[in-house]
Amino acid sequence: MPRIVGFSGSLRKGSFNASLLRAAAAACPEGAVVDIVSIRDFPLYDADLEAEGMPAAVAALKDQIAQADGVLIVTPEYNQSIPGVLKNTIDWLSRPATDLRRVFGDKAVAVMGATPGRGGTFLSQAVLLQSVLALGARPWLGARVHVSGAKDVFGADGALKDETVSRLVKRFMGEYVEFLTKRRSLERIPREE
Ligand SMILES: Cc1cc2nc3c(=O)[nH]c(=O)nc-3n(C[C@H](O)[C@H](O)[C@H](O)COP(=O)(O)O)c2cc1C
Repeated sequence: MPRIVGFSGSLRKGSFNASLLRAAAAACPEGAVVDIVSIRDFPLYDADLEAEGMPAAVAALKDQIAQADGVLIVTPEYNQSIPGVLKNTIDWLSRPATDLRRVFGDKAVAVMGATPGRGGTFLSQAVLLQSVLALGARPWLGARVHVSGAKDVFGADGALKDETVSRLVKRFMGEYVEFLTKRRSLERIPREE
């Protein structure tokens, strides 16, 4: 069954996006797994730092993504775009370009987002998809999850309490995992040359 690496573009303890990611992991169909990772230990991208060697947190996440079937990124919206910490993560993961194929080649990347505002993170998700394409990955565009009014959607403990959003998240994860599972079985069929 598929393995998915999931991370949130917010470092905030009470992050709605981290809560949404946890809800997505919990809604994953049986057998599939979302491994939730943090991007907190990524340093600011600096080519001089890169020249000294890949930081351990970056190397570890690259290897984990390379081994996974899919990647789920849950992003806030900052100033109609993605947060700097998330862009910074993507920039590190894209280095060196010669490693892109190993890490992201054809990987199906899914995106969700939550905001306490009304905009549902439509803009940040669109911006994020642009970077996903730059990585050589394949945006998975099955179901969509744009959470608005997040303060009423999650409880004080971070649990997803809105039934409509719960159903959406469950459907999203069901369809995403179904796609990854089909892809896995296709990869086992030898290709005709
Ligand atoms: C610098 C900054 C810019 C923001 N810009 C937007 C925005 O353009 N659209 C939006 O819906 N929310 C915006 N917000 C509000 C965030 O959606 C809100 O802080 C949200 O809780 C962040 O996600 P998190 O709960 O996962 O940390 C902004 C917040 C910050 C700190």
